[in-house]
Amino acid sequence: MIVKNICCIGAGYVGGPTMAVIAKNNPHLKITIVDINQARIDAWNDADVSKLPIYEPGLAEIVQETRGKNLFFSTDIDAAIDESEMIFISVNTPTKTYGKGKGMAADLKYIELCARNIAAVAKTDKIVVEKSTLPVRTAEAIKSILHNTGNEINFHILSNPEFLAEGTAVQDLLNPDRVLIGGESEAAIEALAKVYNSWVPEEKILRTNLWSSELSKLTANAFLAQRVSSINAISEICELTGANVNEVAKAIGMDSRIGSKFLQASIGFGGSCFQKDILNLVYIARSYNLNEVADYWEQVIIMNDHQKRRFSDRLIKTLYNTVSGKKIGMLGWAFKKDTNDTRESAAIYVADHLLNEQANLSVYDPKVSSFKIQSDLNYLNTRSEEENEASVKTESSPYEALKAAHAVAIMTEWDEFKTYDWEKIYSHMKKPAFIFDGRNILDKAAMQKIGFEYYSIGQ
Ligand code: NAD
Ligand code: UGA
Repeated sequence: MIVKNICCIGAGYVGGPTMAVIAKNNPHLKITIVDINQARIDAWNDADVSKLPIYEPGLAEIVQETRGKNLFFSTDIDAAIDESEMIFISVNTPTKTYGKGKGMAADLKYIELCARNIAAVAKTDKIVVEKSTLPVRTAEAIKSILHNTGNEINFHILSNPEFLAEGTAVQDLLNPDRVLIGGESEAAIEALAKVYNSWVPEEKILRTNLWSSELSKLTANAFLAQRVSSINAISEICELTGANVNEVAKAIGMDSRIGSKFLQASIGFGGSCFQKDILNLVYIARSYNLNEVADYWEQVIIMNDHQKRRFSDRLIKTLYNTVSGKKIGMLGWAFKKDTNDTRESAAIYVADHLLNEQANLSVYDPKVSSFKIQSDLNYLNTRSEEENEASVKTESSPYEALKAAHAVAIMTEWDEFKTYDWEKIYSHMKKPAFIFDGRNILDKAAMQKIGFEYYSIGQ
Protein backbone atom coordinates (compact mmCIF):
# COMPACT_ATOMS: atom_id res chain seq x y z
CA MET A 1 0.00 0.00 0.00
CA ILE A 2 1.53 3.28 -1.06
CA VAL A 3 0.89 6.26 1.17
CA LYS A 4 1.60 9.76 -0.15
CA ASN A 5 -1.14 11.81 1.48
CA ILE A 6 -2.18 11.65 5.12
CA CYS A 7 -5.18 13.32 6.66
CA CYS A 8 -5.67 13.77 10.40
CA ILE A 9 -9.15 14.58 11.67
CA GLY A 10 -8.81 16.59 14.89
CA ALA A 11 -6.32 19.45 15.32
CA GLY A 12 -6.01 19.16 19.10
CA TYR A 13 -3.30 18.37 21.64
CA VAL A 14 -2.65 15.03 19.95
CA GLY A 15 -3.41 15.64 16.27
CA GLY A 16 -1.37 18.88 16.06
CA PRO A 17 1.94 17.80 17.62
CA THR A 18 1.80 14.20 16.29
CA MET A 19 1.26 15.24 12.70
CA ALA A 20 3.85 18.04 12.95
CA VAL A 21 6.46 15.47 14.00
CA ILE A 22 5.38 13.02 11.28
CA ALA A 23 5.62 15.84 8.72
CA LYS A 24 9.07 16.90 9.94
CA ASN A 25 10.40 13.36 9.55
CA ASN A 26 8.62 12.55 6.28
CA PRO A 27 9.18 15.47 3.91
CA HIS A 28 7.95 13.25 1.04
CA LEU A 29 4.47 12.94 2.61
CA LYS A 30 1.75 15.59 2.48
CA ILE A 31 -0.04 15.86 5.82
CA THR A 32 -3.30 17.77 6.19
CA ILE A 33 -4.82 18.30 9.63
CA VAL A 34 -8.52 19.12 9.53
CA ASP A 35 -10.98 20.23 12.17
CA ILE A 36 -14.54 21.54 12.41
CA ASN A 37 -13.32 24.31 14.71
CA GLN A 38 -12.50 27.25 12.39
CA ALA A 39 -10.93 29.34 15.16
CA ARG A 40 -8.55 26.51 16.06
CA ILE A 41 -7.50 26.02 12.42
CA ASP A 42 -7.00 29.79 12.04
CA ALA A 43 -4.77 29.77 15.12
CA TRP A 44 -2.71 26.87 13.69
CA ASN A 45 -2.32 28.94 10.51
CA ASP A 46 -1.38 32.17 12.34
CA ALA A 47 1.78 33.69 10.89
CA ASP A 48 2.88 34.40 14.45
CA VAL A 49 3.70 30.91 15.79
CA SER A 50 3.52 32.15 19.38
CA LYS A 51 -0.24 32.21 18.80
CA LEU A 52 -0.62 28.50 17.99
CA PRO A 53 -3.61 27.06 19.90
CA ILE A 54 -1.39 24.71 21.86
CA TYR A 55 1.70 25.52 23.84
CA GLU A 56 4.30 22.75 23.85
CA PRO A 57 8.06 23.32 24.12
CA GLY A 58 9.63 22.88 20.65
CA LEU A 59 6.33 22.70 18.77
CA ALA A 60 6.30 26.20 17.28
CA GLU A 61 9.71 25.59 15.67
CA ILE A 62 8.54 22.36 13.98
CA VAL A 63 5.33 23.98 12.75
CA GLN A 64 7.35 26.91 11.41
CA GLU A 65 9.65 24.48 9.56
CA THR A 66 6.94 22.29 7.99
CA ARG A 67 3.79 24.42 7.63
CA GLY A 68 3.00 25.32 4.05
CA LYS A 69 5.62 22.81 2.82
CA ASN A 70 4.19 19.40 3.71
CA LEU A 71 2.00 20.25 6.70
CA PHE A 72 -1.36 21.96 6.17
CA PHE A 73 -4.25 22.97 8.44
CA SER A 74 -7.74 23.20 6.98
CA THR A 75 -11.47 22.99 7.67
CA ASP A 76 -12.11 21.31 4.32
CA ILE A 77 -12.48 17.86 5.84
CA ASP A 78 -14.02 16.17 2.79
CA ALA A 79 -11.23 17.26 0.44
CA ALA A 80 -8.54 16.02 2.82
CA ILE A 81 -10.27 12.65 3.28
CA ASP A 82 -10.73 12.30 -0.47
CA GLU A 83 -7.09 12.84 -1.39
CA SER A 84 -5.55 10.74 1.43
CA GLU A 85 -4.60 7.09 1.47
CA MET A 86 -4.26 7.12 5.26
CA ILE A 87 -6.64 8.90 7.67
CA PHE A 88 -5.94 9.36 11.38
CA ILE A 89 -8.91 9.94 13.66
CA SER A 90 -7.68 12.10 16.52
CA VAL A 91 -10.86 13.67 17.84
CA ASN A 92 -11.86 14.03 21.47
CA THR A 93 -13.47 11.10 23.31
CA PRO A 94 -14.76 12.71 26.52
CA THR A 95 -16.75 11.04 29.28
CA LYS A 96 -20.46 10.88 28.39
CA THR A 97 -22.52 13.61 30.04
CA TYR A 98 -25.93 12.14 29.16
CA GLY A 99 -27.87 8.91 28.79
CA LYS A 100 -26.60 5.38 29.37
CA GLY A 101 -23.10 5.35 30.84
CA LYS A 102 -23.35 9.04 31.83
CA GLY A 103 -20.30 10.06 33.87
CA MET A 104 -18.45 6.82 33.08
CA ALA A 105 -18.43 5.64 29.46
CA ALA A 106 -16.52 7.33 26.65
CA ASP A 107 -18.69 9.43 24.37
CA LEU A 108 -17.96 8.04 20.90
CA LYS A 109 -20.24 10.34 18.92
CA TYR A 110 -17.33 12.31 17.42
CA ILE A 111 -15.60 9.07 16.40
CA GLU A 112 -18.77 7.81 14.75
CA LEU A 113 -19.22 11.12 12.91
CA CYS A 114 -15.69 10.81 11.54
CA ALA A 115 -16.31 7.22 10.40
CA ARG A 116 -19.54 8.28 8.68
CA ASN A 117 -17.78 11.23 7.08
CA ILE A 118 -15.05 8.94 5.71
CA ALA A 119 -17.66 6.44 4.48
CA ALA A 120 -19.57 9.20 2.69
CA VAL A 121 -16.57 10.84 1.01
CA ALA A 122 -14.12 8.04 0.20
CA LYS A 123 -13.82 7.02 -3.46
CA THR A 124 -10.60 4.99 -3.10
CA ASP A 125 -9.22 2.44 -0.59
CA LYS A 126 -8.22 3.92 2.77
CA ILE A 127 -6.27 2.97 5.86
CA VAL A 128 -8.16 4.39 8.85
CA VAL A 129 -6.06 4.84 11.99
CA GLU A 130 -7.58 5.17 15.45
CA LYS A 131 -5.32 7.71 17.16
CA SER A 132 -7.88 8.74 19.78
CA THR A 133 -8.06 6.71 22.99
CA LEU A 134 -10.96 4.30 22.61
CA PRO A 135 -12.74 1.55 24.52
CA VAL A 136 -11.63 -1.92 23.53
CA ARG A 137 -13.58 -3.19 20.49
CA THR A 138 -14.38 0.27 19.08
CA ALA A 139 -12.74 -0.77 15.81
CA GLU A 140 -15.66 -3.21 15.44
CA ALA A 141 -18.12 -0.29 15.26
CA ILE A 142 -15.91 1.71 12.89
CA LYS A 143 -15.54 -1.34 10.64
CA SER A 144 -19.28 -1.86 10.59
CA ILE A 145 -19.91 1.74 9.46
CA LEU A 146 -17.16 1.69 6.83
CA HIS A 147 -17.99 -1.74 5.45
CA ASN A 148 -21.63 -0.87 4.88
CA THR A 149 -21.18 1.94 2.40
CA GLY A 150 -22.46 -0.19 -0.45
CA ASN A 151 -19.48 0.64 -2.69
CA GLU A 152 -16.42 -1.47 -3.46
CA ILE A 153 -13.93 0.45 -1.36
CA ASN A 154 -11.57 -1.44 1.00
CA PHE A 155 -11.04 0.06 4.42
CA HIS A 156 -8.34 -1.22 6.77
CA ILE A 157 -8.67 -0.20 10.41
CA LEU A 158 -5.60 0.18 12.59
CA SER A 159 -5.29 1.10 16.24
CA ASN A 160 -2.31 3.36 16.92
CA PRO A 161 -2.83 4.92 20.36
CA GLU A 162 -0.78 7.91 21.38
CA PHE A 163 1.32 7.86 24.55
CA LEU A 164 2.69 11.42 24.54
CA ALA A 165 2.39 13.46 27.73
CA GLU A 166 1.60 17.15 27.55
CA GLY A 167 4.46 19.50 28.30
CA THR A 168 6.89 16.98 26.79
CA ALA A 169 4.85 16.09 23.70
CA VAL A 170 7.52 16.93 21.14
CA GLN A 171 10.28 15.03 22.97
CA ASP A 172 7.95 12.07 23.56
CA LEU A 173 7.06 11.99 19.85
CA LEU A 174 10.65 12.37 18.65
CA ASN A 175 11.88 9.66 20.99
CA PRO A 176 8.96 7.41 21.95
CA ASP A 177 9.37 4.46 24.32
CA ARG A 178 7.37 2.50 21.75
CA VAL A 179 4.93 2.93 18.89
CA LEU A 180 1.99 0.55 19.09
CA ILE A 181 0.16 -0.60 15.98
CA GLY A 182 -2.75 -3.01 16.21
CA GLY A 183 -4.47 -4.34 13.12
CA GLU A 184 -5.67 -7.19 10.98
CA SER A 185 -4.10 -6.35 7.62
CA GLU A 186 -0.36 -6.88 7.57
CA ALA A 187 0.03 -4.57 4.57
CA ALA A 188 -1.79 -1.75 6.36
CA ILE A 189 0.26 -2.27 9.53
CA GLU A 190 3.48 -2.11 7.52
CA ALA A 191 2.34 1.03 5.67
CA LEU A 192 1.92 2.80 9.01
CA ALA A 193 5.13 1.31 10.43
CA LYS A 194 6.96 2.80 7.42
CA VAL A 195 5.75 6.30 8.34
CA TYR A 196 7.20 5.91 11.86
CA ASN A 197 10.32 4.12 10.64
CA SER A 198 11.52 7.45 9.24
CA TRP A 199 12.71 8.27 12.75
CA VAL A 200 11.65 5.53 15.17
CA PRO A 201 13.94 2.46 15.37
CA GLU A 202 12.29 -0.75 14.19
CA GLU A 203 12.66 -2.49 17.58
CA LYS A 204 10.43 0.17 19.16
CA ILE A 205 7.55 -0.50 16.78
CA LEU A 206 5.24 -3.05 18.34
CA ARG A 207 2.61 -4.91 16.29
CA THR A 208 -0.38 -6.48 18.06
CA ASN A 209 -3.94 -7.43 17.32
CA LEU A 210 -6.53 -4.62 17.28
CA TRP A 211 -8.03 -5.34 20.68
CA SER A 212 -4.70 -5.61 22.53
CA SER A 213 -3.71 -2.25 21.10
CA GLU A 214 -6.96 -0.55 22.10
CA LEU A 215 -6.85 -2.04 25.60
CA SER A 216 -3.13 -1.30 26.11
CA LYS A 217 -3.79 2.42 25.91
CA LEU A 218 -6.44 2.40 28.65
CA THR A 219 -4.24 0.07 30.69
CA ALA A 220 -1.16 2.29 30.39
CA ASN A 221 -3.07 5.33 31.65
CA ALA A 222 -4.68 3.33 34.45
CA PHE A 223 -1.28 2.05 35.64
CA LEU A 224 0.26 5.55 35.50
CA ALA A 225 -2.61 7.16 37.40
CA GLN A 226 -2.57 4.31 39.91
CA ARG A 227 1.05 5.13 40.76
CA VAL A 228 0.13 8.74 41.51
CA SER A 229 -2.82 7.69 43.68
CA SER A 230 -0.61 5.13 45.43
CA ILE A 231 2.07 7.65 46.41
CA ASN A 232 -0.61 10.19 47.35
CA ALA A 233 -2.22 7.61 49.65
CA ILE A 234 1.16 7.14 51.31
CA SER A 235 1.58 10.94 51.60
CA GLU A 236 -1.36 11.06 54.00
CA ILE A 237 0.24 8.45 56.23
CA CYS A 238 3.50 10.43 56.10
CA GLU A 239 1.81 13.59 57.35
CA LEU A 240 0.64 11.77 60.47
CA THR A 241 3.74 9.73 61.24
CA GLY A 242 6.76 11.94 60.61
CA ALA A 243 7.80 9.99 57.53
CA ASN A 244 8.66 12.14 54.48
CA VAL A 245 6.98 11.12 51.21
CA ASN A 246 9.90 12.36 49.10
CA GLU A 247 12.24 10.10 51.04
CA VAL A 248 9.83 7.17 50.82
CA ALA A 249 9.43 7.71 47.04
CA LYS A 250 13.21 7.74 46.59
CA ALA A 251 13.67 4.66 48.74
CA ILE A 252 11.09 2.57 46.89
CA GLY A 253 11.94 4.02 43.46
CA MET A 254 15.52 2.71 43.70
CA ASP A 255 14.07 -0.79 43.56
CA SER A 256 14.39 -1.49 39.85
CA ARG A 257 11.17 -3.51 39.95
CA ILE A 258 9.28 -0.38 41.07
CA GLY A 259 11.26 2.32 39.25
CA SER A 260 11.64 5.98 40.15
CA LYS A 261 9.27 7.70 37.70
CA PHE A 262 5.72 8.84 38.46
CA LEU A 263 6.15 8.80 42.23
CA GLN A 264 5.81 12.55 42.80
CA ALA A 265 3.21 13.20 45.50
CA SER A 266 0.90 16.04 44.55
CA ILE A 267 -2.46 17.72 44.99
CA GLY A 268 -3.79 14.97 42.73
CA PHE A 269 -3.53 14.19 39.05
CA GLY A 270 -5.39 16.24 36.47
CA GLY A 271 -5.44 16.36 32.70
CA SER A 272 -8.03 15.38 30.17
CA CYS A 273 -7.27 11.67 30.13
CA PHE A 274 -6.41 9.83 33.36
CA GLN A 275 -9.83 10.20 34.94
CA LYS A 276 -11.81 9.72 31.74
CA ASP A 277 -9.81 6.65 30.71
CA ILE A 278 -10.08 4.96 34.12
CA LEU A 279 -13.81 5.69 34.26
CA ASN A 280 -14.05 4.14 30.83
CA LEU A 281 -12.12 1.05 32.00
CA VAL A 282 -14.38 0.78 35.04
CA TYR A 283 -17.43 1.03 32.77
CA ILE A 284 -16.12 -1.69 30.47
CA ALA A 285 -15.41 -3.97 33.45
CA ARG A 286 -18.91 -3.41 34.85
CA SER A 287 -20.46 -4.05 31.45
CA TYR A 288 -18.87 -7.53 31.59
CA ASN A 289 -20.08 -7.92 35.21
CA LEU A 290 -16.50 -7.78 36.49
CA ASN A 291 -17.41 -5.87 39.62
CA GLU A 292 -14.23 -6.59 41.60
CA VAL A 293 -12.12 -5.40 38.66
CA ALA A 294 -14.25 -2.27 38.34
CA ASP A 295 -14.06 -1.49 42.07
CA TYR A 296 -10.30 -1.97 42.04
CA TRP A 297 -9.70 0.67 39.34
CA GLU A 298 -12.39 3.03 40.60
CA GLN A 299 -10.44 3.38 43.83
CA VAL A 300 -7.70 5.24 41.90
CA ILE A 301 -10.22 8.02 41.16
CA ILE A 302 -11.69 7.99 44.66
CA MET A 303 -8.19 8.43 46.10
CA ASN A 304 -7.47 11.28 43.70
CA ASP A 305 -10.65 13.15 44.62
CA HIS A 306 -9.78 12.65 48.28
CA GLN A 307 -6.29 14.11 47.75
CA LYS A 308 -7.64 17.31 46.13
CA ARG A 309 -10.19 17.75 48.90
CA ARG A 310 -7.64 17.01 51.59
CA PHE A 311 -5.37 19.77 50.31
CA SER A 312 -8.01 22.49 50.56
CA ASP A 313 -9.33 21.14 53.89
CA ARG A 314 -5.84 21.33 55.36
CA LEU A 315 -5.37 24.88 54.09
CA ILE A 316 -8.67 26.01 55.63
CA LYS A 317 -7.99 24.23 58.92
CA THR A 318 -4.51 25.76 59.19
CA LEU A 319 -5.87 29.24 58.52
CA TYR A 320 -7.77 29.00 61.81
CA ASN A 321 -10.72 27.16 60.26
CA THR A 322 -11.82 29.97 58.01
CA VAL A 323 -10.76 31.52 54.71
CA SER A 324 -13.82 33.74 54.49
CA GLY A 325 -12.77 37.15 53.14
CA LYS A 326 -9.09 36.07 53.08
CA LYS A 327 -6.88 36.47 50.02
CA ILE A 328 -5.36 33.20 48.82
CA GLY A 329 -2.72 33.57 46.10
CA MET A 330 -2.74 30.61 43.74
CA LEU A 331 0.41 29.91 41.76
CA GLY A 332 -0.42 27.81 38.71
CA TRP A 333 -3.68 26.73 37.12
CA ALA A 334 -2.51 24.32 34.36
CA PHE A 335 -2.77 20.61 35.25
CA LYS A 336 1.03 20.31 35.01
CA LYS A 337 3.96 22.49 34.02
CA ASP A 338 4.89 23.46 30.46
CA THR A 339 1.35 23.32 29.08
CA ASN A 340 -1.54 25.76 28.76
CA ASP A 341 -4.00 22.87 29.19
CA THR A 342 -6.24 23.15 32.25
CA ARG A 343 -8.60 20.24 31.62
CA GLU A 344 -9.45 18.52 34.94
CA SER A 345 -6.68 20.48 36.65
CA ALA A 346 -6.68 19.93 40.42
CA ALA A 347 -6.47 23.74 40.75
CA ILE A 348 -10.05 24.08 39.52
CA TYR A 349 -11.42 21.84 42.27
CA VAL A 350 -9.27 23.33 45.02
CA ALA A 351 -10.38 26.82 43.93
CA ASP A 352 -14.03 25.77 43.87
CA HIS A 353 -13.77 24.43 47.40
CA LEU A 354 -12.05 27.57 48.68
CA LEU A 355 -14.68 29.75 46.98
CA ASN A 356 -17.41 27.79 48.73
CA GLU A 357 -15.69 28.90 51.94
CA GLN A 358 -15.87 32.53 50.69
CA ALA A 359 -12.15 32.98 49.99
CA ASN A 360 -10.91 35.65 47.57
CA LEU A 361 -8.59 34.08 45.03
CA SER A 362 -5.80 35.73 43.13
CA VAL A 363 -4.32 33.50 40.45
CA TYR A 364 -1.12 33.63 38.42
CA ASP A 365 -0.20 31.09 35.76
CA PRO A 366 2.46 31.83 33.13
CA LYS A 367 0.40 30.28 30.30
CA VAL A 368 -3.27 30.37 31.32
CA SER A 369 -5.52 33.35 30.62
CA SER A 370 -8.07 34.95 32.89
CA PHE A 371 -10.78 33.94 30.41
CA LYS A 372 -9.82 30.26 30.71
CA ILE A 373 -9.74 30.38 34.51
CA GLN A 374 -13.20 31.95 34.64
CA SER A 375 -14.64 29.52 32.11
CA ASP A 376 -13.19 26.51 34.00
CA LEU A 377 -14.97 27.69 37.15
CA ASN A 378 -18.17 28.62 35.35
CA TYR A 379 -18.27 25.15 33.78
CA LEU A 380 -18.68 23.64 37.26
CA ASN A 381 -21.92 25.60 37.70
CA THR A 382 -21.32 25.94 41.43
CA ARG A 383 -22.10 29.68 41.46
CA SER A 384 -22.98 32.44 39.02
CA GLU A 385 -20.47 33.84 36.52
CA GLU A 386 -20.72 37.21 38.29
CA GLU A 387 -19.83 35.62 41.62
CA ASN A 388 -16.82 33.85 40.12
CA GLU A 389 -15.69 37.08 38.53
CA ALA A 390 -16.03 38.99 41.78
CA SER A 391 -14.09 36.45 43.86
CA VAL A 392 -11.34 35.37 41.45
CA LYS A 393 -8.79 37.81 40.06
CA THR A 394 -6.11 36.79 37.59
CA GLU A 395 -2.82 38.65 37.74
CA SER A 396 -0.09 38.87 35.12
CA SER A 397 2.58 39.13 37.81
CA PRO A 398 3.11 36.56 40.58
CA TYR A 399 4.18 39.31 42.98
CA GLU A 400 0.89 41.13 42.42
CA ALA A 401 -1.06 37.87 42.92
CA LEU A 402 0.62 37.29 46.28
CA LYS A 403 0.60 40.88 47.57
CA ALA A 404 -1.25 41.10 50.92
CA ALA A 405 -2.25 37.44 50.64
CA HIS A 406 -2.85 35.35 53.75
CA ALA A 407 -1.55 32.22 52.04
CA VAL A 408 0.12 30.96 48.86
CA ALA A 409 -1.21 27.75 47.31
CA ILE A 410 1.11 26.16 44.73
CA MET A 411 -1.00 24.26 42.23
CA THR A 412 1.37 23.62 39.30
CA GLU A 413 5.08 22.77 39.36
CA TRP A 414 6.21 25.54 36.95
CA ASP A 415 10.03 25.87 37.24
CA GLU A 416 9.87 29.65 37.53
CA PHE A 417 8.09 29.41 40.90
CA LYS A 418 11.32 28.10 42.43
CA THR A 419 13.31 31.15 41.38
CA TYR A 420 11.04 33.90 42.71
CA ASP A 421 12.27 36.40 45.28
CA TRP A 422 10.51 34.68 48.18
CA GLU A 423 11.88 37.19 50.71
CA LYS A 424 10.16 39.98 48.79
CA ILE A 425 6.95 37.92 48.59
CA TYR A 426 7.11 37.29 52.34
CA SER A 427 7.55 40.96 53.13
CA HIS A 428 4.37 41.86 51.20
CA MET A 429 2.15 39.10 52.65
CA LYS A 430 -0.09 39.14 55.73
CA LYS A 431 1.56 37.53 58.78
CA PRO A 432 1.78 34.76 59.66
CA ALA A 433 2.47 34.04 55.99
CA PHE A 434 1.54 30.52 54.91
CA ILE A 435 2.72 28.46 51.94
CA PHE A 436 0.81 25.33 50.91
CA ASP A 437 3.09 23.68 48.40
CA GLY A 438 0.89 21.25 46.48
CA ARG A 439 3.85 20.13 44.36
CA ASN A 440 6.69 19.96 46.91
CA ILE A 441 8.84 22.22 44.74
CA LEU A 442 10.14 24.72 47.31
CA ASP A 443 12.89 24.14 49.86
CA LYS A 444 11.19 23.76 53.21
CA ALA A 445 14.19 24.88 55.30
CA ALA A 446 14.78 27.96 53.13
CA MET A 447 11.13 28.98 53.33
CA GLN A 448 11.03 28.51 57.08
CA LYS A 449 14.22 30.57 57.43
CA ILE A 450 12.52 33.45 55.63
CA GLY A 451 9.67 33.20 58.11
CA PHE A 452 6.99 31.31 56.20
CA GLU A 453 4.76 28.71 57.81
CA TYR A 454 5.43 26.05 55.18
CA TYR A 455 3.18 23.05 54.47
CA SER A 456 3.77 20.54 51.71
CA ILE A 457 2.39 17.18 50.69
CA GLY A 458 3.40 14.17 52.74
CA GLN A 459 5.88 15.87 55.04
P1 NAD B 1 -8.72 17.95 21.69
O1 NAD B 1 -10.05 18.25 22.26
O2 NAD B 1 -7.57 18.86 22.01
O3 NAD B 1 -8.82 17.87 20.10
C1 NAD B 1 -9.81 17.19 19.43
C2 NAD B 1 -10.23 18.01 18.19
O4 NAD B 1 -11.12 17.22 17.40
C3 NAD B 1 -10.95 19.31 18.51
O5 NAD B 1 -10.25 20.40 17.98
C4 NAD B 1 -12.33 19.12 17.86
O6 NAD B 1 -12.86 20.31 17.30
C5 NAD B 1 -12.03 18.11 16.78
N1 NAD B 1 -13.21 17.37 16.31
C6 NAD B 1 -14.17 16.76 17.04
N2 NAD B 1 -15.06 16.14 16.25
C7 NAD B 1 -14.68 16.38 14.97
C8 NAD B 1 -15.18 16.00 13.70
N3 NAD B 1 -16.27 15.23 13.60
N4 NAD B 1 -14.52 16.42 12.60
C9 NAD B 1 -13.42 17.17 12.70
N5 NAD B 1 -12.88 17.56 13.88
C10 NAD B 1 -13.49 17.16 15.01
O7 NAD B 1 -8.38 16.46 22.15
P2 NAD B 1 -6.93 15.80 22.35
O8 NAD B 1 -6.39 16.16 23.69
O9 NAD B 1 -6.10 16.03 21.13
O10 NAD B 1 -7.33 14.26 22.44
C11 NAD B 1 -7.75 13.54 21.31
C12 NAD B 1 -7.74 12.06 21.63
O11 NAD B 1 -6.41 11.64 21.95
C13 NAD B 1 -8.59 11.67 22.84
O12 NAD B 1 -9.17 10.42 22.59
C14 NAD B 1 -7.58 11.56 23.96
O13 NAD B 1 -7.99 10.64 24.95
C15 NAD B 1 -6.37 11.03 23.24
N6 NAD B 1 -5.08 11.36 23.86
C16 NAD B 1 -4.84 12.61 24.35
C17 NAD B 1 -3.60 12.92 24.89
C18 NAD B 1 -3.31 14.28 25.44
O14 NAD B 1 -2.24 14.45 26.00
N7 NAD B 1 -4.17 15.26 25.31
C19 NAD B 1 -2.58 11.96 24.85
C20 NAD B 1 -2.85 10.71 24.32
C21 NAD B 1 -4.10 10.42 23.81
C1 UGA C 1 -0.73 11.12 30.45
C2 UGA C 1 0.24 9.97 30.17
O1 UGA C 1 1.46 10.22 30.88
C3 UGA C 1 0.52 9.85 28.68
O2 UGA C 1 1.34 8.72 28.44
C4 UGA C 1 -0.80 9.69 27.93
O3 UGA C 1 -0.57 9.65 26.55
C5 UGA C 1 -1.70 10.86 28.26
O4 UGA C 1 -1.91 10.93 29.70
C6 UGA C 1 -3.06 10.76 27.65
O5 UGA C 1 -3.49 9.70 27.29
O6 UGA C 1 -3.67 11.82 27.61
P1 UGA C 1 -0.55 13.77 30.63
O7 UGA C 1 -1.88 13.65 31.28
O8 UGA C 1 -0.36 14.72 29.52
O9 UGA C 1 -0.09 12.34 30.07
O10 UGA C 1 0.54 14.15 31.74
P2 UGA C 1 1.23 13.30 32.91
O11 UGA C 1 2.66 13.66 32.95
O12 UGA C 1 0.92 11.87 32.84
O13 UGA C 1 0.56 13.91 34.22
C7 UGA C 1 -0.80 13.68 34.51
C8 UGA C 1 -1.13 14.26 35.87
O14 UGA C 1 -0.51 13.50 36.91
C9 UGA C 1 -0.64 15.70 36.06
O15 UGA C 1 -1.59 16.45 36.77
C10 UGA C 1 0.62 15.54 36.87
O16 UGA C 1 0.92 16.67 37.63
C11 UGA C 1 0.25 14.36 37.75
N1 UGA C 1 1.42 13.61 38.24
C12 UGA C 1 2.23 12.94 37.38
C13 UGA C 1 1.68 13.57 39.60
O17 UGA C 1 0.94 14.16 40.41
N2 UGA C 1 2.76 12.87 40.04
C14 UGA C 1 3.59 12.20 39.21
O18 UGA C 1 4.56 11.56 39.69
C15 UGA C 1 3.31 12.25 37.84
